[in-house]
Amino acid sequence: MTDFELHFDQSGSGTPLLLIHGFPFDNRSWEGQLKALSRPAHVLAPDLPGFGDSPAGEPPYTMERYAEDCVAVLDGLDITEPVVVGGLSMGGYIALAFVRHFPERVAGLLLASTRPGADSEEGKANRDKAIADVKANGVAALVEGMHPKLLAPSTYETKPEVAARLKGIMLNASEAGVVGALQAMRDRPDATEELAQIEVPALVIHGEEDGVIPISEAEDMAAALPYAELVRVADAGHLPNMEQPQVFNEAVEAFLGRI
Ligand code: MLT
Repeated sequence: MTDFELHFDQSGSGTPLLLIHGFPFDNRSWEGQLKALSRPAHVLAPDLPGFGDSPAGEPPYTMERYAEDCVAVLDGLDITEPVVVGGLSMGGYIALAFVRHFPERVAGLLLASTRPGADSEEGKANRDKAIADVKANGVAALVEGMHPKLLAPSTYETKPEVAARLKGIMLNASEAGVVGALQAMRDRPDATEELAQIEVPALVIHGEEDGVIPISEAEDMAAALPYAELVRVADAGHLPNMEQPQVFNEAVEAFLGRI
């Protein structure tokens, strides 16, 4: 566990809803959810170590350690009842680690733009290349390569402010946070076989035009989870919560109503 508490933002009162951001974002990527979901939920959005306003701390990071850090946020607020754990992409890998290690603290799972599988050998090699690239050329080089692939083509065209906002968030990531997260993603375990044992309701939500994680992987994940529903978001890529916040929030609100 990290030896300091993560920075987080919160709003609302109701069912605790933990929203864990993806890579290399921070909790500002949940801006469209923090207020909008504050009526049905007590929304909690941490910055992972080395992202946003959380310091980087000592490496190495793992999905388990990130999950422990999120539990520490709940403990710091005396939230002992089970919560809805939500994560986007890398945040989803952390949500799956959370339910693996702290099943008694999970009332439901929100898995956005994510997958249960581990990196392939090629994927691991790409993480190593990215780590070397970030160490040699800085975070901006990674952002230049990644940012054009994240959103649906129509988002770049019709919502340039969303694309610009996302880029600003990415450029704010620290080198230590980025390198640590790349290592943690490279080494994460495969959660595919565990899905069948996850006994809580799950909402799987995925952009139809996600170019990072194909929607077919979300379909397989939803089929393997005993109590899951899948929501496909049209005109959205890897960040449906930023690209189509209204559709995203309506799906989450309906899900919370069923928990
Ligand atoms: C993310 O959005 O968190 C990352 O793209 C996930 C990944 O690289 O596996």
